[in-house]
Amino acid sequence: MTATVVDHPLAATLLTALRDRATPPSLFRLLTKRLALALVLEATRTAPTTACRVETPLGHADGRALAGVPVAVPILRAGLGMLEAVTELLPDVAVGYIGLERDHATFHPAAYYSKLPPLAGAWVLLLDPMLATGGSAAAACDALAAARAARITLLSVVAAPEGIRHLGERHPAVEVVTAAIDLGLDEHAYIVPGLGDFGDRLFGT
Ligand code: PRP
Ligand code: URA
Repeated sequence: MTATVVDHPLAATLLTALRDRATPPSLFRLLTKRLALALVLEATRTAPTTACRVETPLGHADGRALAGVPVAVPILRAGLGMLEAVTELLPDVAVGYIGLERDHATFHPAAYYSKLPPLAGAWVLLLDPMLATGGSAAAACDALAAARAARITLLSVVAAPEGIRHLGERHPAVEVVTAAIDLGLDEHAYIVPGLGDFGDRLFGT
């Protein structure tokens, strides 16, 4: 398991504004999308490309074309906030959905929805802003592995060390790209200092 923390001053300022409890849902949604753009750029740093050539107004230029487009899979609900960043940067992306909800008492995720495109051999960008206990991400990776995805990169906004450890034990080959690794979890399995309940802040619930 690799965990990469995006180290960029703009990502840091966006994350700081997301953490701020005074940030309202309208701004929270905008900031999530902007930060997700930085996460997508980092996650696709190793995307395979092929050589190509284009005509410029003044001659020819050697360039690169993507050799394949990953599949995006947001975990509902909160992962939806990151999806537009992916579709903007990768317009040909196919999108699947996994619905998971954490039980408030046990913190175990319950699955309530799944709609995935064919994934055999695919590279999946799994979108979930919070990696807390890691239970939800691991359950989503179970489903992606069962569908024979070849490579999984989880894009997260904030990760807890406990979640990274748990996901690494369940799915050692998964790559994590995050904007921060925080201190840990509180007694309700919320990330500290974190930013609170991402889904509630994103959707104003
Ligand atoms: C949140 C978050 C993750 C999960 C992380 O979702 O978006 O999916 O919790 O926690 P874990 O790492 O301990 O599993 P939640 O279940 O609250 O649903 P929501 O996105 O619909 O708000
Ligand atoms: N889910 C959230 O939305 N926030 C946390 O801190 C943990 C799980």
